[in-house]
Amino acid sequence: MIVLGIETSCDETGIALYSGTEGLLAHRLHSQVDTHARYGGVVPELASRDHIRRVLPLIDECLADANLSRTHIDGIAYTRGPGLAGALLVGTSIARSLGWALDRPVLGVHHMEAHLLAPMLEVDQPRYPFLALLVSGGHTLLVQVAGIGRYRVLGESLDDAAGEAFDKTAKLLGLPYPGGPQLEALASQGEPGRFVFPRPMTDRPGFDFSFSGLKTAVVNTVRTATNDAATQAAIARAFQDAVVETFAIKTRRALAHTGAGHLVVAGGVGANQALRQRLREVASEHRAQVAYPRLAFCTDNGAMIAYAGYCRLVAGEQDSGRVDVRPRWPLDDLQAPGECLAAQ
Ligand code: KG4
Ligand code: ZN
Repeated sequence: MIVLGIETSCDETGIALYSGTEGLLAHRLHSQVDTHARYGGVVPELASRDHIRRVLPLIDECLADANLSRTHIDGIAYTRGPGLAGALLVGTSIARSLGWALDRPVLGVHHMEAHLLAPMLEVDQPRYPFLALLVSGGHTLLVQVAGIGRYRVLGESLDDAAGEAFDKTAKLLGLPYPGGPQLEALASQGEPGRFVFPRPMTDRPGFDFSFSGLKTAVVNTVRTATNDAATQAAIARAFQDAVVETFAIKTRRALAHTGAGHLVVAGGVGANQALRQRLREVASEHRAQVAYPRLAFCTDNGAMIAYAGYCRLVAGEQDSGRVDVRPRWPLDDLQAPGECLAAQ
C-alpha cells in the first residue's frame, strides 16, 4: 500500500510517499520561515495561504521523485490536528478532494502521534513498549507507549511548551524567528555556569513540566545584565542548560517508573544537540536505548504523517465524509489501529 502524507498544521508544508513494502519513497518540505520571519512568529492566515500554494506542486514533485503517478496512490493521510485551524483545513480539503477524485481512502492523522512514530522511519527502530519525550512548539509530553495508539500521558507542561519557551527566550535575546535553532547556536558560544536558572518542578513528584517561572528568571536577568554578546550567549547557555537538565531529571524518573528499555525523543526541540547528548547519558544509566528520528524528521515533515497514516489505513481505518479538524486533540484520546472499527 502506498500512502501519500500531507502535513500542514503550522508553518511547514510537508509531503511524502510511504510504501508498506518499500518504506519511504519520497519526501519534500517547504518551510515558511521567510514568510513569517519579518513578523517574529507564525501569522496563521499567511501560513494557510502558503500551504494552498505549495501542497499540489510538492505532491507532483514527490511523485516524480518516486517515478509514480497519482493513480499509484492507495491511500491519503493528512494532519487533522492539533495545529492552526486554517492551516489544518488546507491539508484536509486537498486530501479529501484528491481522495474523492481518485476514489481512495483518506484518513486524518494526529500530529503528535506522527512525531512519536517518526523513529520508525529509521533502520534502528525502537521496540514497544517505550517511553517517549515529545517536545515541540506546542506540546511537551512524557508518554508511555504500549503500541500504536496505546498511549498513557505521564506528564505534560502546565503552561508553555518547550519549543515555545525556546522561541520566547530567543525573542528576548533579540534573535530572529525561528528561535529554537538560533538559541542553540548562541548557547554553544556561551560560558557555562555564569548564570544559573531554576530547573522548574524538579523538586516535586510526578512528571509534569512548567516553563513560565524559567521565562521570568530569564526576563529578569536580561533586564539587569549588560547587553554585550558574551553575556547574551551566557544567558542562552544557562536557559538551555536549565531546560535540558529539567528534561533529564524527569525522563530519568519516568524511565525508573516505567522500566522502559527504549526511549524515543521526538518533536522539533528533539533536534537540539545538547538535549540529545544529555538524554543519551540518562538512557545509558538505565541501560535503555534511545531513538531519535533524523533531524529532518524531528521537526515537522510529511514522512511521519504518511507513516502514521499507513499504520492506520492498512488496518482499514478511514474518515467519514465530515470535515472535522481538531486544533486541540489530546493524544490519549487515540485508540489502537482498527480498534475504533471493532467498536462500531
Ligand atoms: O515539531 P515542530 O517542528 O513543530 C510543532 O509541531 O510545533 O517544533 C517546532 C519547535 C519550535 O518551537 C522550534 O523553535 C523548536 O521546535 N526547535 C528547537 C530546535 N529546532 C527546532 N528548539 C531547540 N533547539 C533546536 N535545535
Ligand atoms: Zn510538530
